Amino acid sequence: MMPPTREKADLDFLAGKRLRRTRQTGWSRAMVRETDLTARDLILPLFILEGENQREKIATMPGVERLSIDLAITVAKEARDLGIPALALFPCTQNDRRTEDGRESYNPDNLMCQALRAIKEAVPDIGLIADVALDPYTSHGHDGLMNGDTILNDESVAVLIKQALNQARAGADVIAPSDMMDGRIGALREALDADGFENVILLSYAAKFASAFYGPFRDAVGSGARLKGDKKTYQLEPYNREEALREVEQDLLEAADWVMVKPGLAYLDIVREVKDQFDVPVFAYQVSGEYAQIEFAAAAGALDRDAAMMESLIAFKRAGCTGILTYFALDVARRLRR
Ligand code: PBG
Repeated sequence: MMPPTREKADLDFLAGKRLRRTRQTGWSRAMVRETDLTARDLILPLFILEGENQREKIATMPGVERLSIDLAITVAKEARDLGIPALALFPCTQNDRRTEDGRESYNPDNLMCQALRAIKEAVPDIGLIADVALDPYTSHGHDGLMNGDTILNDESVAVLIKQALNQARAGADVIAPSDMMDGRIGALREALDADGFENVILLSYAAKFASAFYGPFRDAVGSGARLKGDKKTYQLEPYNREEALREVEQDLLEAADWVMVKPGLAYLDIVREVKDQFDVPVFAYQVSGEYAQIEFAAAAGALDRDAAMMESLIAFKRAGCTGILTYFALDVARRLRR
């Protein structure tokens, strides 16, 4: 007698295709895990404050503090001991040092340079990433120079070069322009090389979107309240994917070593495409608003904080990130150590 005819799905079933089989136990799930999150994947951002033994809470970022340099050194040591490879430093410039032209950005004794020198000396084996953009130094809170309502491109790049050289001389290992001016990567590479910094790495915030998720950061560095207008004439519109890829391509043509996508979770499609199209390290920034969402939702009892924290970061890895800038870095690294 002929066997009854069967649908394809039935045949697969008979052939043993039960996808739940591997999910039944912890050990079998561990064996087929496709991505991993380790301390090595994390970059810890630090907000630096003037003075000694100073710490200030940031109301919109529960658990994150601005720290004076001495306290930042203690944190840097812990980060190093936990296996976090690098820090990203952000200075909170005193208000009376913020000007139209952002000239404090290239003062060799500014807070950023003091922090770079001190941390480099105390913790030489952790990487120091210096953000290049004028917003911590300008009275109008923009990343570049202004003429009326216009953000000037080439004039801004000229100042960004002075800022970057200033940071490289103070010991920055990685220069990370987050300003989104055109042509700054090529100009920075040339200027760094000419000054003997051919080994300083350029990490371009290549695909940086004009995002509502930067709100708490602007509180943290004190640029939010003073910001005139928005940053849409230089940061990308959230609608655009192809334009983001063009930005990445352009920065790579200009010799960016690594690229960054920012914000993170809402832009993981861009991370995946950059990863697939270009053979370069790609980082993402889990920005202040992403951090705040999890913290405040957890504080309201809506989420399990640690589980949400881990899940969000695993998503970055699954999307193809080489590494993640995250305010959770210390917490995650401590948890992974346990
Ligand atoms: C500006 C800069 C911003 C962030 C890092 N560098 C904000 C902005 O573009 O206004 C945001 C990071 C965060 O939200 O955590 N150069």
